[in-house]
Amino acid sequence: MRFTDKVVLITGASGGIGTQVVKRFASEGAKIVLVGRTKEKLEKTAKDLELKSDAFLIVAGDVTKESDVENYVTKTKEHFGRIDVFVNNAGIESKFESIMETDSDAMSKVLDVNLKGVYFGLKHVLKVMTSQKFGSIINTSSVAGLIGFPNMAPYVASKHAVIGLTKTAALEVASYNVRVNAICPAPVDTQMMEDIEEAGGMSREDFASAVPLGRYAKPEEIASLIAFLASDDASYITGSAYPIDGAMTSS
Ligand SMILES: NC(=O)c1ccc[n+]([C@@H]2O[C@H](COP(=O)([O-])OP(=O)(O)OC[C@H]3O[C@@H](n4cnc5c(N)ncnc54)[C@H](O)[C@@H]3O)[C@@H](O)[C@H]2O)c1
Repeated sequence: MRFTDKVVLITGASGGIGTQVVKRFASEGAKIVLVGRTKEKLEKTAKDLELKSDAFLIVAGDVTKESDVENYVTKTKEHFGRIDVFVNNAGIESKFESIMETDSDAMSKVLDVNLKGVYFGLKHVLKVMTSQKFGSIINTSSVAGLIGFPNMAPYVASKHAVIGLTKTAALEVASYNVRVNAICPAPVDTQMMEDIEEAGGMSREDFASAVPLGRYAKPEEIASLIAFLASDDASYITGSAYPIDGAMTSS
């Protein structure tokens, strides 16, 4: 119960990783703010996880719209009074095509969610956390933030950028007792990987064989790392980008 009565804000909360993050923090006593584009999906997530009615808040919003981001931050402050942990997690994959085939709209669409959405979240949550003088942020990057992958340029560029934002934010707010880290998962067993398999015309086994552990991560395993980084057990960790990748980026 490391998070009893802590306020944890999660974007992409009804997705594969986001749902397990909600579950993990709720199981450790946190009050949760679930953010995503579709209110009904967030309500279903809260219902499926049997969250207590006084222990969660749902705020529908699109992370690409700065006004929606300001709104989820304001609503969290109004309802729970502070933000202890921010899991800046919403993201989309890109189409499977080479840089030469990638048009400007396809690049912008991915950067809008994965880079601008993360930046808007940082910008507005950091204002709250620096005034509180506490807080921990975990940005979801990827192994695609550490190495290149052919035919995924917008995604790879966006996830590299998340690590740059993470390090810069960590430097800017360290003196306010606010920590900012990124996580870099290899393929995780969620809808996103199913979509990437289909787009790339590759099987789950093809992707899993690129991971020395020989399998996808479970979203629960990603949630465990996020909870650790959010906790006081990680009190000296900031500005880091943590691979959680079954040794995929070790060679
Ligand atoms: N699944 C993987 O293999 C994998 C690996 C490394 C990193 N990641 C990253 O993990 C994060 C979560 O992905 P996931 O695997 O759970 O995928 P997912 O598709 O299951 O979930 C993504 C969530 O983000 C939400 N979202 C997308 N665009 C949004 C927007 N504009 N505004 C608000 N919410 C939006 C979706 O509705 C969904 O709930 C993403 O940032 C992804 O890039 C995933």
